[in-house]
Amino acid sequence: MKAMVIHQYGAAEQLQLAELPLPIPGEGQVRIKVAAAGVNPVDFHVRNGLLKDTGTHQLPLVLGWDAAGVIDALGTGVQAWQPGQEVMVFAPIGGQGCYAEYICVDADLLAAKPSQLSMTEAAAVPLAAVTAWQGLFKVGQLQPGQRVYIHGASGGVGGFAVQLAKARGAFVYASCSARSRDYVASLGADVCLDYQQQDFAEQLTELDLLFACVGGNQVLPRALPTLKSGGRLISTFDEIDPALAQAQGVDYQRMWVQPSGADLKQLAELLQSGQLRVQLDQVWPLHQAREALARSESGRALGKVVLQLAAD
Ligand SMILES: NC(=O)c1ccc[n+]([C@@H]2O[C@H](COP(=O)([O-])OP(=O)(O)OC[C@H]3O[C@@H](n4cnc5c(N)ncnc54)[C@H](OP(=O)(O)O)[C@@H]3O)[C@@H](O)[C@H]2O)c1
Repeated sequence: MKAMVIHQYGAAEQLQLAELPLPIPGEGQVRIKVAAAGVNPVDFHVRNGLLKDTGTHQLPLVLGWDAAGVIDALGTGVQAWQPGQEVMVFAPIGGQGCYAEYICVDADLLAAKPSQLSMTEAAAVPLAAVTAWQGLFKVGQLQPGQRVYIHGASGGVGGFAVQLAKARGAFVYASCSARSRDYVASLGADVCLDYQQQDFAEQLTELDLLFACVGGNQVLPRALPTLKSGGRLISTFDEIDPALAQAQGVDYQRMWVQPSGADLKQLAELLQSGQLRVQLDQVWPLHQAREALARSESGRALGKVVLQLAAD
């Protein structure tokens, strides 16, 4: 099968088209014929060597950890799924990725593809939307009526987070640049702040939750005074000394998303009922994964970047 792999860690040119053996599903696994694969910042972080010294991966490594496609083969012991079913998945980041014609994943990580979504739209969902879900609800414990600020609301994670927080009944403050304002407002944000013109730390107080989907600019230390005592500060990337947050009565966590078929199924229901929608930024063919990754790495994607392997 064709796949985009790295043989060494490093810059864009390390990502190359390769011919790999067809993977065989193990016990409890399904093999998916990939129709589209999501592109996420973790892909270029891994390519650059973020996990190089952790022993997480063996090279050559297929990048990309979410996908949509059609089940093509079952391993032993799989009862819940059949060949031919259309599914989406967030695959474990510790394993081989989805920039490939086929992947094998544990069957309990799958969710059925919502019927009104194309394969490219469905591939845009799993990793970013599960991050938003777990960040807001599992780690952040957001409740109806609470005040939440989503920093970086126009990206993959932030766009889902705004919609999920609104659907939960929160009052949503969100930041983006001026060009993304209409998009973020259309997702349901109650107040949009232009992070290039307005300092959220001067505008916001008494927040229950601050979800930092984008780092940089000392966002975490500046966030602390905007939270009420007992409020929660959740970061997807930057880190601070937990003692700093503790001293201000803030519950701070640097989250690590975990693949979860159960969470993905709940997101699929919201997509199916139209309460959640998908914004595609750019779609590239598999062999142009370098270009797709460059778009993600630019930090300017409005919504999601996706690789398309089969016509929608
Ligand atoms: N810890 C975890 O488990 C986990 C899971 C998933 C993702 N992440 C991390 O979360 C981060 C976001 O991921 P993503 O997929 O959402 O990224 P993304 O889609 O690439 O984010 C792009 C967006 O970031 C916005 N942005 C750039 N600089 C900003 C700033 N200073 N303030 C506010 N917004 C800014 C851009 O908006 P404008 O173009 O409008 O400026 C753009 O829309 C990445 O660092 C990723 O590695 C972590």
